[in-house]
Amino acid sequence: MCGIVGYIGKSKATPFLVEGLKALEYRGYDSAGVAVYDQTIELVKTKGRLKDLESCLDGSQLNGTMGIGHTRWATHGEPSYCNAHPHMNTRTDIAIVHNGIIENYLELKEELEAKGYQFVSETDTETVVHLIEETLKEHENFFTAVLTAAKRLKGSYGLGVISHKNPDQIIAIRKDSPLVIGLGEHENFLASDIPAILKYTRNVYFLEDGEAAILTKDSVKIYDLDEKELKKEVFTVTWDIDAAEKSGYDHFMMKEIFEQPKVIKDTLNGRLSQDSEEVILDQIKIDKDVLEKINKIYIVACGTAYYAGMIGKELIEKIARVPVVAEVASEFRYKDPILDENTLMIVVSQSGETADTLAALRMAKQAGARVMAIVNVVGSTISREAHDILYTSAGPEIAVASTKAYSSQLIAMYLLSIRMGRILGKIDDAEFTELKTAILKLPEQVQNILDRSQEIKALADKHLGMKNIFYIGRGLDYATSLEGALKIKEVAYLHAESYQAGELKHGPIALIEKGSVLMGLLGQESLMEKTISNIKEVKARGADVIAIALEGNTMAKHVADDVFMVPKTHWMLTTLLINIPQQLFAYYISCGLGHDVDKPRNLAKSVTVE
Ligand code: F6R
Repeated sequence: MCGIVGYIGKSKATPFLVEGLKALEYRGYDSAGVAVYDQTIELVKTKGRLKDLESCLDGSQLNGTMGIGHTRWATHGEPSYCNAHPHMNTRTDIAIVHNGIIENYLELKEELEAKGYQFVSETDTETVVHLIEETLKEHENFFTAVLTAAKRLKGSYGLGVISHKNPDQIIAIRKDSPLVIGLGEHENFLASDIPAILKYTRNVYFLEDGEAAILTKDSVKIYDLDEKELKKEVFTVTWDIDAAEKSGYDHFMMKEIFEQPKVIKDTLNGRLSQDSEEVILDQIKIDKDVLEKINKIYIVACGTAYYAGMIGKELIEKIARVPVVAEVASEFRYKDPILDENTLMIVVSQSGETADTLAALRMAKQAGARVMAIVNVVGSTISREAHDILYTSAGPEIAVASTKAYSSQLIAMYLLSIRMGRILGKIDDAEFTELKTAILKLPEQVQNILDRSQEIKALADKHLGMKNIFYIGRGLDYATSLEGALKIKEVAYLHAESYQAGELKHGPIALIEKGSVLMGLLGQESLMEKTISNIKEVKARGADVIAIALEGNTMAKHVADDVFMVPKTHWMLTTLLINIPQQLFAYYISCGLGHDVDKPRNLAKSVTVE
């Protein structure tokens, strides 16, 4: 997730580039930069937010009328000056901005280094600019060279490219990463997203995969990768800026819930695919020798990330057969845990800045333990301080309530526990294949649930008047129920409690009366009949029951007033699917009650204080 802009026309490029990037800052904000052509390509970039770029630009004389800009959400290499875009070749006559991930960049980098190209950043993007220079040796036409280079790229890209030798054009090309071209009067615009250009024009072309464009001051021509010119319809944008930033969704929370199929794919990218014989986790250097010495694992995190940790505990114990304790960071840091060089601590954090989680990490390091971080924000403090890192690829999460980050943390837990199980010889090839096939199906199964979001809305509308809600589940469903209850508390401000289904009769069932609402989770087939009995006990005391069950469950409808079915999958993965309707339910209840769902009262996105 990065923001891209480009301008070519009658006015100075820089004001548009900066304004456009501001409108895209929600896509990434760890570094930013512009490259503007004015006799030569002038580059200004910096680590930090757009206000830092503006300070760098203050007083600089960027008078050119063509340029590109970028705001970054780091994926390869930490936020830094060198890793910031635009990237240039060593001769500084080509500049590019990129959104996406070049999967074969290491292979290309090796090839280019062997030919003498010098790399100054850790990014995948820099490979592309050197590759274009190399391709120009065979194809003098700049556009042809860019297309030829692009054909060698694997992965996803939205690219904006300018060259000193072609100062009258910007080249844009896309594969699996959005690009939109805004059409003006003697000026044209490029952006990764509509908000950047909406102030200037509402007439746009959307580039499709495998399409490239040449933008000049007075024309925009679109081609396929074989340079055949294509005719495209101009699209007139009718949304306002606010809606456009949210890609047409009413709120970031909804947008982020709907991004989950992609987030899952992105988190699996390069780590597990149909052809994989192993899970590949590049930045985790734990081998058999290290793992065999570890006699205890702590998983430490806060809030939603902690619930992902609870699931991780069950998975690692089940698959790798190593004892795991999952602890809330604010408790862990003030205990006297047994930590030594045979301990592995896994911290989980979306922001990578949560104070309690960071304190626990430091405590473990101090005691000589090995620390692994499952973290979303590249270059965050936690990612810098951990020994091993497993980045989730959720992209920026703007809504305060975590949704897509949680799903990506679960994917990370699946990958990690399988990797550990394989290293320790606890998962044979058949089990590996079974899990792999099931995991790779998750994006499509999540989409199936999202396609039925209106069913959840109807359930939410029916329960808008509730004063409190109980969530119950067993096994992995218990952690999922905690997450369901937390979402309701956060965004709907309703009292919500979660219990292990079997614990109800030991006290909490006294709270149940006519009109109480119960969410019963039936994702664990082996425990399903037990939970059904617990639901019956609650139903008998007058509760209104919603059940979330697996497709084919014939019992749920006999005990619940309403049942929402999710697709069937491997028992370890059902928890991810069961959670999606819970997210939607909390979202619709919050909106129905008229709350600010993206910025709930009293909460902050990143909790950097104790
Ligand atoms: C809940 C939520 C919080 C965070 C918690 C940890 O929706 O967002 O409970 O999960 O504050 O934050 P990170 O993951 O940034 O460490």
